[in-house]
Amino acid sequence: MKVEKLVEAKEQIKLGGGEKRIEKQHNAGKHTARERLDLLFDEGSFIEIDAFVTHRCTNFDMENVEAPADGIVTGYGTVNGRLVFAYAQDFTVLGGSLGEMHAAKICKVQEMAMKMGAPIVGFNDSGGARIQEGVDALSGYGKIFYRNTLASGVIPQISVIMGPSAGGAVYSPALTDFIFMVEKTSMMFITGPQVIKTVTGEEVSQEELGGAMTHNRTSGVAHFVDASEEECIERIKRLLSFLPSNNLEDPPFIETEDDINRIEDKLNEIVPENPNKPYDMKEIITTIADDGDFFEVQPYFAQNMIVGFIRLNGSTVGVIANQPKVLAGCLDINASDKAGRFIRTCDAYNIPILNLVDVPGFLPGTEQEYGGIIRHGAKMLYAYSEATVPKVTLIVRKAYGGAYLAMCSKDLGADQVFAWPNAEIAVMGPDGAANIIFKKDIKNAEDPIEMRAEKIEEYRDTVANPYIAASRGFVDDVIVPSTTRQRLVSAFDMLQSKRENRPSKKHGNIPL
Ligand code: HXC
Repeated sequence: MKVEKLVEAKEQIKLGGGEKRIEKQHNAGKHTARERLDLLFDEGSFIEIDAFVTHRCTNFDMENVEAPADGIVTGYGTVNGRLVFAYAQDFTVLGGSLGEMHAAKICKVQEMAMKMGAPIVGFNDSGGARIQEGVDALSGYGKIFYRNTLASGVIPQISVIMGPSAGGAVYSPALTDFIFMVEKTSMMFITGPQVIKTVTGEEVSQEELGGAMTHNRTSGVAHFVDASEEECIERIKRLLSFLPSNNLEDPPFIETEDDINRIEDKLNEIVPENPNKPYDMKEIITTIADDGDFFEVQPYFAQNMIVGFIRLNGSTVGVIANQPKVLAGCLDINASDKAGRFIRTCDAYNIPILNLVDVPGFLPGTEQEYGGIIRHGAKMLYAYSEATVPKVTLIVRKAYGGAYLAMCSKDLGADQVFAWPNAEIAVMGPDGAANIIFKKDIKNAEDPIEMRAEKIEEYRDTVANPYIAASRGFVDDVIVPSTTRQRLVSAFDMLQSKRENRPSKKHGNIPL
């Protein structure tokens, strides 16, 4: 009898807010919390904990309100055979709102994930702080933020937005490593459209204000967007395959058939002769990578900077690359933030870094200066200098001025720097430089245009090439482009045992 009662009770809890609300959830194009967990975990591996936990609020007749599992499913299981912890807010129960016990359940899995050194994935689908519970709900959020921060850099934390995430609730995802969103159903904002209209008079739709593309393209808050929940969850699994379970482990090694000595003649031709002509840096990345596989992070935000993961000879490598196709690959505020954050993610999780450089400089203009490009650009310099993982830099074409340094030059701690033969390493581009240092020659010439062209060429031949940097040891080798994969595999292999000690300190003071 007792056994039957237990089984029945468990079945009841599994129904969450009941058939009707489940149907409403489905009609909104969303899966339920438990369905999402089933999609994430290896079949049959998910174990739920705290299913019997419920609220203890007595305000507003809440003692008569049933809240199965208190509107959140928590537990653990395996994803591709590896231990992962997870929680999923159940919108069918009190709108997935967060009260004292709901928060306590999240905190418990956060602590377990930290203790066991395993990633945690959180599915957010919630009306926010449970209004009836008042300050207890707010305290719950505070406890989660605190644990998000303790876990930062210890275990990978992944946030998935699959419904509303509003008000202060957005700060838990914001404190984690990666945010996934789904088109049309995900929403993140500090204050919603109604409040904005009341306070500022501005009219904006929910989607425009805090939809998936807004945060993927414009704000840079989110890292990934997918058309469906299924595709989103598949992408989470792929991301996990590049990451270690915690900061004391190395990322998983994935055996490859791809020849490490693969010669790619097309790399000898890929960069146009004309230095002002763009090309697609992503082609270089996929040509170098194992099996042509590049997992891009934040593909829609600050597209002048590319970041993401590849594997070289089976091991994860974080790639940071300028994109000459967008803003000529200039560094700006958003590109600096994007790269700075990614460098720190790689460093925290023992992921070696590859920098592919083709950068004409920092984007000029008052918008950039007033927006604080000095402090934003400084994040990149800081993050590179601070990173102790193996760092390899390949100068593909331009590397000018401060941007040459900011893209991890030898002096910022690159362990190996390579250049392709057409690389131009100089204080500034030949055009600008010739105008300044040959100003008089150009002015006094019979044909100033021809003289200018001559001087630009002279400058390029004398200074803007990789051999001066190579003669000083700032570039370890000038390499034949077609042999790049071979050279990079060998460099990262050599760097595997790298150990680097820094002065001990509480923490640094990265410019923010
Ligand atoms: C208690 C809530 C709730 C909440 C929703 N519900 N949000 N219960 N506290 N915060 C309940 C509803 O009463 C309803 O119960 C059920 O969940 C489903 O909600 P609906 O409104 O019917 O759903 P929908 O039309 O899809 O609208 C979803 C919504 C809306 C947009 C999220 O519910 C909403 O605006 N909720 C309030 C959002 C909000 O302002 N939250 C506080 C944010 S501030 P029944 O029983 O009728 O089905 C915050 C501070 C955090 O979170 C601070 C951290 C530092």
